[in-house]
Amino acid sequence: MAFREYKIGCWMFGIALSLSMFITIVLPGLDISSMSSTKVALEKQLTYGWESGFNYYDPFLQGKDKPIKVTLTKSPKTGAAIDKTHAYVFPAGTHFPDGLTHDNILGDGVQQVSESKGRIGDATEEKGGVFLVQTDANDTPYIEYATATRGWTVAATLKAADEQILAGSGKTIFVREGCWWCHTLLPEETQDWQDFGRPPLVGDFNGESPTTFGSDRKAPDLLHVGSRNSSREWMTMHFFNPRLVQPHSIMPRYDYLWGDKDVDGKAVDLAAWDEHFMRYAAGDEIYPPEVPIPAADSEARKLIDFVLNLK
Ligand code: HEC
Repeated sequence: MAFREYKIGCWMFGIALSLSMFITIVLPGLDISSMSSTKVALEKQLTYGWESGFNYYDPFLQGKDKPIKVTLTKSPKTGAAIDKTHAYVFPAGTHFPDGLTHDNILGDGVQQVSESKGRIGDATEEKGGVFLVQTDANDTPYIEYATATRGWTVAATLKAADEQILAGSGKTIFVREGCWWCHTLLPEETQDWQDFGRPPLVGDFNGESPTTFGSDRKAPDLLHVGSRNSSREWMTMHFFNPRLVQPHSIMPRYDYLWGDKDVDGKAVDLAAWDEHFMRYAAGDEIYPPEVPIPAADSEARKLIDFVLNLK
């Protein structure tokens, strides 16, 4: 008879678990899938590409398989001056975000305009291409496939770019390093407004995975950190050793993300740096050691690009 109670217990547990999963996963999923993407969601999808967490194409979370956000002030096709524009470059073979490959992600309106005006239906992952985020006359945001509409190719766009923002790869580093154990990306509808800026809208998350909300806040919210601090130099020092700029910070050092060589190809010697720093801390040196500038393909550079891009 004890066995019978055990069986009933299993059933009750199963029902309770299914019900709670239904309420926490399926119901909000329905809500989100009936929501049209905001402009923020389109920008995020095109900046981060497909799946920034653990996945088959980047199992060690190194920031592979990601698009490159660029700033343009001249047309990649003609070279003529244009207003400052951000474009999102997907080299051939880069996986597209869900919004470009699934019909019910962009949401009503946004999907139709992206197809009719933006011609996203012409884009394929094999060919890759260049995308823009636009707003039509009715204020509906949409994705434009600029390779089809304007003839902007991947190579010409990368060449014409004033800067390359590796925020897509940087988000993967953010996920891997567990920044979200301490930081949230979710200002709340409270006095958070004053410190951390506008809380997000539901439609800001269409097609984003993972959302990196964070859970328990031990440090400032970062959703708009690039708006309050846009200094690359500060970020570089702070990630190398937070105590250089915030003497009592509990944030860990991320100096190992610099890799072996700095931007000038000089070896990054963390042990020698530490030794110099300890002499400085003891008062035997007047200046702290210089923080190396991260190389263009280093993980530190990608992470800083991601953080500064959080506007
Ligand atoms: C142990 C908790 C902890 C972890 C993990 C952590 N941080 Fe921090 N972070 C802090 C604290 C505390 C502060 C505030 C003091 C300071 O500036 O160092 C901070 C400050 C910051 C700031 C400046 C915020 C502002 O409002 O100006 C940025 C940017 C930042 N962290 C990014 C990151 C990133 C990116 C990672 C992951 C690579 C990370 N942090 C990991 C605790 C943490």
